[in-house]
Amino acid sequence: MRLDKFICKSTELTRNEAKKLLKSGDVRVNGEVAKNAAMQVHENNTITVDGQALTPRTSRYFMLHKMVDSICSNVDEVYPSVLHFLDVDKAFDLHIAGRLDADTTGLVLITDDGRWSHNVISPKKDCSKTYRVWLRNAINDDKADELIAQFKQGLQLQGESSLTRPAILEKVTDDQVLLTITEGKYHQVKRMFAAVGNKVVGLHREQIGGIELGDLAPGQWRSLTEQEVALFDPTPNK
Ligand code: URA
Repeated sequence: MRLDKFICKSTELTRNEAKKLLKSGDVRVNGEVAKNAAMQVHENNTITVDGQALTPRTSRYFMLHKMVDSICSNVDEVYPSVLHFLDVDKAFDLHIAGRLDADTTGLVLITDDGRWSHNVISPKKDCSKTYRVWLRNAINDDKADELIAQFKQGLQLQGESSLTRPAILEKVTDDQVLLTITEGKYHQVKRMFAAVGNKVVGLHREQIGGIELGDLAPGQWRSLTEQEVALFDPTPNK
């Protein structure tokens, strides 16, 4: 892996901070001063900062199929935290990358890698989230194109100063749609449909960026694959 990535994985430093540290000349690889952030290193190299050897952390990455009446929080409230369903050691040391409401089901990503979850959550990263939405009022065919255009142009949500970002709406049946958005304002999907005079009666997240829930059963979880983790890697080998 790159030297700056190795430093990030071994410390709390961001990638920019790791680069600054390298410029300072305090980092050595096998005893030689190393300043090149892109230098390829391996775990069997001895990498030191001010003489102290670095050991990379191994982070954990999971997906969970959230059920209703559970919450995306590290603290139980009226409903239990989804972390109770993750049958791994020290589950409450992990955090949830992007919350769902208590009555929303579907894909939840869970990790202890803050830089990775930042790439999932930060509005600056434009990460798409796809929801299957069940609606109270049917969308008639003659209104569907207009609605799709409204979602694409952006909607004015109550209490917000700017329009929502362009969203992709696809009609599945008269009362079911797929909606892809790249932001995560509070109750965003419910408020988007409220803004066009409809009401969400069921909400399920199917996909986050390139990570799909697939056929994982409700309440079940699995580790993410290396390929899935790499999709939000904060220090890719590029
Ligand atoms: N939008 C909502 O309104 N609720 C969710 O749980 C997720 C997105």
